[in-house]
Amino acid sequence: MSYKITLLPGDGIGVEVTEAAVKVMNEVADKFNLTLEFKTELIGGSSYEKNGSPLTDETLQSCYDSDAVFLGAVGGPKWESLPHNLKPEAALLKLRKSLGLFANIRPAKIYEPLIDSSTLKKNVLLGTDLIVLRELTGGIYFGTPRGFDENRGWNTMEYSYEEVERITRIAFRMAKERNKKVTSVDKANVLEVSQFWRNIVHKVHNEFKDVELNDMYVDNAAMQIVRNPKQFDVILTSNLFGDILSDIAGMITGSLGMLPSASIGTKYSLYEPVHGSAPDIAGQNKANPLAAISSAAMMFNYSFGLQKAAEIIDSAIEKTLASGIRTRDIYSEGTALVSTEQMTGAVLENINEIYHSQALGVFTL
Ligand code: NAD
Ligand code: IPM
Ligand code: MN
Repeated sequence: MSYKITLLPGDGIGVEVTEAAVKVMNEVADKFNLTLEFKTELIGGSSYEKNGSPLTDETLQSCYDSDAVFLGAVGGPKWESLPHNLKPEAALLKLRKSLGLFANIRPAKIYEPLIDSSTLKKNVLLGTDLIVLRELTGGIYFGTPRGFDENRGWNTMEYSYEEVERITRIAFRMAKERNKKVTSVDKANVLEVSQFWRNIVHKVHNEFKDVELNDMYVDNAAMQIVRNPKQFDVILTSNLFGDILSDIAGMITGSLGMLPSASIGTKYSLYEPVHGSAPDIAGQNKANPLAAISSAAMMFNYSFGLQKAAEIIDSAIEKTLASGIRTRDIYSEGTALVSTEQMTGAVLENINEIYHSQALGVFTL
């Protein structure tokens, strides 16, 4: 099989972690007899520097022409004071909207070897396996009117019936395959748009009676995620709340540098780590590549239906962590500090080892 992938490394550590993920994609392609055709395009600040625009028609067209899109990260202090439509972040929003990527899947799972890297206690974390399902192409990120002048700033949080209904269906379908529990997070005690959201979620629930549904206010949800993350299975929420809650959920895994994501629509899909361009460590070979590598695993699974390939990548990540090597963000006493490249090299080695042991029928971790 042959697949076309548009690579959008973007800015800062986006470039470094994309390079790492591509090495892993190639390694896996080699094992599974796949041909991956990569096309690298600019996005974000790097595109603005070259083209005066953070997202060109050429980049967008390449994404339309691909089987999957892989993105590193965009943004940085250099472009912070640009007008909103020229900011690197605007490119990512336009890309998500143009490709119709309304469902953003952000899993936060425990890697046992990392249990001591989190600021949360071991007994709080053990057994946690949750997904933040974030609506990605609506809500306050896209509502109009929006703007600011000298005296006032304004945005609009708006959802259509159809937008809420389709993301809710995905939440219930995902939960059905998992632990059969959806927590819909909103602010229905204050916001009309949230009451509207809640009403639709309950209506759709009638079609999925075997899945348990709970409503939770977003302020409480933020607290509950750190108090007792085990209570969650699928957290269904809107664009802005999902952005915030998924970073909080990052600390379950131990670092934002561990959190992958898949953004899915009816026709296209994009994979990117949850973290940003990390200007504080960019260009220093210090970034944790595992969120990006794990996003590549999601790509093999969701876009190419190659669950086995995704499993090998996940097992290689687990095995690498078990060997005790750590990038700076997940370092703890008694472990070995390594660079982005060394971490990537170790994952590649472990993919090979696991592949060969599986081929011999002695799959061990
Ligand atoms: P950030 O995620 O870039 O960084 C937050 C902190 O986490 C930093 O201390 C950083 O060093 C650390 N960190 C993040 N990823 C890491 C990794 N892989 N390995 C090790 N440490 C890591 O968030 P920020 O600092 O708020 O934002 C920086 C820029 O990134 C901004 O311009 C923001 O808009 C942008 N951003 C982009 C995306 C995206 O492209 N999807 C996501 C979030 C933020
Ligand atoms: C994310 C980021 C983006 C968002 C920004 C960079 C536009 O924070 O993917 O979580 O807010 O969606
Ligand atoms: Mn975010």
